[in-house]
Amino acid sequence: MATVDPRNDVLHVVGGEPLHGSIHVRGAKNLVSKAMVAALLAPGVSVLKNVPQIRDVQVVSDLLRLHGVAVDVDEVAGVVTIDAQRVQLADVADVDTLSGSSRIPILFSGPLLHRLGEAFIPALGGCNIGGRPIDFHLDTLRKLGAKVDKEHEDGIHITAPDGLHGAKIHLPYPSVGATEQTLLAAVQAEGKTELSGAATEPEIMDLVAVLQKMGAIISVDVDRTFRIEGVKELKGYVHTSLTDRIEAASWASAALATHGDIFVQGATQPEMMTFLNVFRKIGGQFDITDEGIRFWHPGGDLKPVAIETDVHPGFMTDWQQPLVVALTQAKGLSIVHETVYENRFGFTKPLVQMGGTIQLYRECLGSLPCRFQQHNYKHSAVILGPTPLEGRDIDVPDLRGGFSHLIAALTASGPSTVHGISLIDRGYEDFRDKLTALNARVD
Ligand code: EPU
Repeated sequence: MATVDPRNDVLHVVGGEPLHGSIHVRGAKNLVSKAMVAALLAPGVSVLKNVPQIRDVQVVSDLLRLHGVAVDVDEVAGVVTIDAQRVQLADVADVDTLSGSSRIPILFSGPLLHRLGEAFIPALGGCNIGGRPIDFHLDTLRKLGAKVDKEHEDGIHITAPDGLHGAKIHLPYPSVGATEQTLLAAVQAEGKTELSGAATEPEIMDLVAVLQKMGAIISVDVDRTFRIEGVKELKGYVHTSLTDRIEAASWASAALATHGDIFVQGATQPEMMTFLNVFRKIGGQFDITDEGIRFWHPGGDLKPVAIETDVHPGFMTDWQQPLVVALTQAKGLSIVHETVYENRFGFTKPLVQMGGTIQLYRECLGSLPCRFQQHNYKHSAVILGPTPLEGRDIDVPDLRGGFSHLIAALTASGPSTVHGISLIDRGYEDFRDKLTALNARVD
């Protein structure tokens, strides 16, 4: 895996200028990585298009290669070709080198169990925005007949000596990852699987489309129950990923916060409807075309909003952080109730140090059922605006929080130095070049 060049890890930003111009957003990080794992199910060649150059793609490519799979990445064309004709057990020490790099490796479980009868999953990484347990994943695998051995200090060893078998599974919370885990494991399990309480994010439905192209039989009911009829064989696919709606919304929030005007080429309306409604309520304007969506600040005051993050079709938790920066510039009191992650407001501390007025509360400031109600997590935020922001030194805490800090630095008057920005490469393709294309003063 590529190491981080320290010169690429710091960005000097002189803010206070509107971002304006056009950028191109390619495929969704949270589909592409999973579609690459799905390719492992078929002893054939799969082709994935619209793939961005982000670190998660590198991590999954590396992990596939360690399992004997040939992966060819054409970064410019955005095409990844995966030949999973041959799959072999990876050396545990090699797999361990990827420990802590991403959350995707846990999704290798089902495909590896089908192809090899066993899997070794390294310790997981991902953003530090809550406990992020994997109990639902492991329960699902066990229900399908897998044996999970967590004794290995660096990872998890999973076996399925008798193969996987269809089962009735209910998720206590509509987890995106656990839904994908079940789909990837159940498509070739013997018999039928019923998965209730599942998540149905657009990226999951795009994964279902990939699996259907491969030969799977999967249906979904209105009550978020998936029914999967196991099939014996799957074949390679050719698929174009849906656009990254999180990246698109992040640039939209940057346009709003900086009084800017950004055309996000590739952005699509259906997956962003909930975001677009909120963007309009705040006073942002947008124009939807066949090529993408233009987002801009029309001048005048922005309006405050009350939002609650939720699973699809609710307001995505990943949209929340960049938008909070824009809300520091809205006139009045905004409220954000985070119901997906218990600890996703850590990024607001530097915003307050920059001049924002943001208070965090343990109470649920909203009406959605929330798992954090009786707990001590500061998972509601009240933002009073508009407040001018001033540049400063910032350490990037996680992917979305880090991008939000970048937006704050671009909104602020005066210079900022943002440290640890290579974290942002995990999910934002070429963001340095895109900032330059939008006339940001960064180096
Ligand atoms: N959860 C459990 N047990 C589990 C799995 C999840 O308690 O076994 C809990 C989590 O702790 C969390 C909630 O369920 O409180 C939702 O987690 P989920 O499993 O849905 O999240 P995920 O699959 O780990 C994906 C995205 C996240 C995105 C969430 C929610 C990927 C690689 N990651 O994570 O994206 O926030 O779904 O939409 O698809 C990001 O892109 O920056 C990012 C964090």
